[in-house]
Amino acid sequence: MAPPLIIANWKMNKTVTEAVHALDTLRARTDLLQAVDVVVAPSATALDRAAQIVAGSRIALAAQNCHWEAAGAYTGEISVPQLADVGCAYGLVGHSERRQAFGETNDQVRRKTAALLAAGLTPILCVGETFPERRAGKTEHVVAEQVSVALQGVSGSQVARLIMAYEPVWAIGTGKTATPVEAASVHRFLRRLIAHDHGEHAATSVRILYGGSVSPDTVEGLLAEPDINGALVGGASLNVQTLLAILERAAGAKERGAGPGRSSGLASSFSPTTSTSSRSSA
Ligand code: 13P
Repeated sequence: MAPPLIIANWKMNKTVTEAVHALDTLRARTDLLQAVDVVVAPSATALDRAAQIVAGSRIALAAQNCHWEAAGAYTGEISVPQLADVGCAYGLVGHSERRQAFGETNDQVRRKTAALLAAGLTPILCVGETFPERRAGKTEHVVAEQVSVALQGVSGSQVARLIMAYEPVWAIGTGKTATPVEAASVHRFLRRLIAHDHGEHAATSVRILYGGSVSPDTVEGLLAEPDINGALVGGASLNVQTLLAILERAAGAKERGAGPGRSSGLASSFSPTTSTSSRSSA
């Protein structure tokens, strides 16, 4: 069974010096890094120095955003080959802040996902509904649309290796974590959708994280759910001691749980009423 995966998304925070200090502290905790898979997404300005610090450790780096073209006249953008060049192995795509504040569309998320995969990086595909959408009973419809468009043309074997993050918009930065039951219900739905569109192997292998006000107090309950394979942490990851507390709880939480590799057994019962893509071959 894969260890839990904790991704720290530092968003637009930390100078290079601050990022270096946090990564130095994190790197020293080899005990926790054995028990938990850790990915950090610093600001682009800190990536190069961050790569030097995490070299030879079990910490991996993620970009917070990317452009889908490999190069060209796109002022202010960063391409996937440039991110690979500074040591990123992962890339966030479709974060709700990018969708809401910068108008990122499902189709742009699809192109970014494809660019990351083409360059050998692992996409961290973020999906989630707003509070009005949840209240209207549209959660499954919204996340199915986001996933189905983003993964158009992606093979089952590629889906098996990617990471998805369910981040309900109403839980991000609000202190309102989804309950483990609420989150797990959406995670199960996402796994059924993946099973239907990309095959059972992809559904059982894809790691699905929860994000939205995760803290040391909430992470254990979330990870106790078999379908929640880790957490995408924003605010609580900015203080390295709080991040370490989350890693400590995560290290203990998954020892007994299930995870990717077990069978969801749900593909046959899935009714694709909300799916917009057709199944692609593995
Ligand atoms: P918070 O943990 O601050 O709610 O942020 C979650 C998030 O957006 C991670 O990508």
